[in-house]
Amino acid sequence: MKGFGNSTIIIPISLCFIFIFIYHLEDVLAAPSRHLCRPEQRDALLAFKNEFHFGKLHYYCELQRFDSHPKTKSWGNNSDCCSWKGITCNAQSREVVGLDLRCSGLHGRFHSNSSLQNLPFLTTLDLSFNDFYGQVPSSVGNFSHLITLRLQGNKFSGRIPSSIGNLFHLTSLYLPNNHFTGRIPTWIGNLSQLTELGLWRNNLVGEIPSSIGNLPQLTILAFWGNNLVGEIPSSIGNLSQLTDLSISRNDLVGEIPSSFGNLSKLTYFEASLNAFTGTIPFHLFTIPSLISIILSDNQLNGTLEFGNTSSPSNLESLSLGNNNFKGPIPRSISKFVNLKSLDLSPFDTQGRPVDFSIFSPLKSLQYLYLSYLNTTTTIDLYDILSYSKKLSILSLSGNHVSTTNKSSVSNPPSQQIYALYLSGCGIT
Ligand SMILES: *[C@@H]1O[C@H](CO)[C@@H](O)[C@H](O)[C@H]1NC(C)=O
Ligand SMILES: *[C@@H]1O[C@H](CO)[C@@H](O)[C@H](O)[C@H]1NC(C)=O
Ligand SMILES: *[C@@H]1O[C@H](CO)[C@@H](O)[C@H](O)[C@H]1NC(C)=O
Ligand SMILES: *[C@@H]1O[C@H](CO)[C@@H](O)[C@H](O)[C@H]1NC(C)=O
Ligand SMILES: *[C@@H]1O[C@H](CO)[C@@H](O)[C@H](O)[C@H]1NC(C)=O
Ligand SMILES: *[C@@H]1O[C@H](CO)[C@@H](O)[C@H](O)[C@H]1NC(C)=O
Ligand SMILES: *[C@@H]1O[C@H](CO)[C@@H](O)[C@H](O)[C@H]1NC(C)=O
Ligand SMILES: *[C@@H]1O[C@H](CO)[C@@H](O)[C@H](O)[C@H]1NC(C)=O
Ligand SMILES: *[C@@H]1O[C@H](CO)[C@@H](O)[C@H](O)[C@H]1NC(C)=O
Ligand SMILES: *[C@@H]1O[C@H](CO)[C@@H](O)[C@H](O)[C@H]1NC(C)=O
Repeated sequence: MKGFGNSTIIIPISLCFIFIFIYHLEDVLAAPSRHLCRPEQRDALLAFKNEFHFGKLHYYCELQRFDSHPKTKSWGNNSDCCSWKGITCNAQSREVVGLDLRCSGLHGRFHSNSSLQNLPFLTTLDLSFNDFYGQVPSSVGNFSHLITLRLQGNKFSGRIPSSIGNLFHLTSLYLPNNHFTGRIPTWIGNLSQLTELGLWRNNLVGEIPSSIGNLPQLTILAFWGNNLVGEIPSSIGNLSQLTDLSISRNDLVGEIPSSFGNLSKLTYFEASLNAFTGTIPFHLFTIPSLISIILSDNQLNGTLEFGNTSSPSNLESLSLGNNNFKGPIPRSISKFVNLKSLDLSPFDTQGRPVDFSIFSPLKSLQYLYLSYLNTTTTIDLYDILSYSKKLSILSLSGNHVSTTNKSSVSNPPSQQIYALYLSGCGIT
């Protein structure tokens, strides 16, 4: 009985071993065809590697602690290119489908004949944070399967190649922090799958094409730091999935379109340092997802209105300083109970009294800028310091400030103030 018992255990185990052995042998024998990348693609990658030198790693890579190293250094003749750093292959076809050379310290001019064009099956091309310069070859439009194209943080120049307009599968197009010139192309509206479009910090000119409104999947639209002019197309109000809109530091004019009140998923809206006029459509302030509205340093005028909203506000940052608003500060500012940063300096209340207790529900405030409100109301310093225990910067310059509220003095504020601006407040 013992022997029988043992053999019943041994037989399945040895069968199992044989099976595993055969399985692996088959694997090894099949390896040349199943596991090696295509020779012509390997050669294209090696040729691409030799088109560039190694330079310093991009400073941003150190900063972000990306997986930063010269990935192409490991590329050699005698191994499967699908196993090289930065390369992804299709599991069946062994075609190179992904090239991720972020932060690889590559330096040199891109030529139109770059052997990169011999990788026609790429779906991801990420050359971000290297030191490439020259024009992006128009042959980039031959990568008809491309889904992600990221070239940020290089020195690419010239126009954005129009052949990119043929890449209908693109969902992510990031070209920021380069030296691109010319206009934002109208054909951008043909890339109907785009979810992310980043063109910030280039030298782009002209108007924002209204065809942008044809990109219904867009969540991120970042054009800040260019030389864009003209008005914002109201078609942007069609982008119902938009979460991030940043167009600061351009020369845009006109009003913030009222259609922006329809951007129901908007989270970050940054449009400072332009020349916008008119009021802010109050519907904007009722979007529950909003965390940040940065519209300082424009020429916004008229009276400020925040609208009526029943849903709790998530707004953490509201920056409206250096505009030309006139009239009362809306009492409904009290509803933005999650504000950490509020900047209204200066704000022309036209000599009206200001009830500073409207700021008292803002218990999370860290930065509060209320300089030059053109009010005769005297602000009690200790009072306002008692509103938020987190306050670290308070600016009340150009207002009447008193420090005489005895009941507050006996109960002094406990927080650490880093900066207190009180010039021209009549304090001696
Ligand atoms: C790859 O092989 C070719 C020819 O065999 C040779 O000329 C080349 O220098 C090799 N490249 C590398 C990176 O080893
Ligand atoms: C690509 O073009 C550049 C300049 O136009 C030239 O120096 C280089 O030899 C060319 N490379 C190939 C592989 O043809
Ligand atoms: C690649 O694109 C260029 C310019 O767009 C075109 O002239 C060339 O025929 C294309 N090559 C291939 C292999 O498709
Ligand atoms: C791309 O968009 C332009 C207008 O911007 C249009 O004229 C053209 O037909 C579109 N091309 C394709 C292939 O859809
Ligand atoms: C996009 O917005 C424009 C202007 O606001 C409007 O005329 C157009 O009908 C909208 N298109 C779609 C598809 O919603
Ligand atoms: C917002 O969207 C609604 C419904 O889609 C539409 O009727 C309205 O005209 C839009 N408002 C603006 C200002 O575009
Ligand atoms: C706002 O400024 C614009 C442009 O300077 C002007 O046309 C408009 O009348 C101003 N509106 C108000 C309410 O002051
Ligand atoms: C907000 O509600 C108040 C009172 O309920 C009303 O007087 C005011 O007009 C409303 N404001 C807006 C912008 O709807
Ligand atoms: C302050 O308000 C008065 C109206 O009460 C107005 O005449 C004056 O120009 C305003 N001052 C500033 C600096 O806006
Ligand atoms: C003085 O401070 C107390 C407590 O913070 C406050 O209730 C009172 O309204 C203040 N009085 C004046 C005149 O500001």
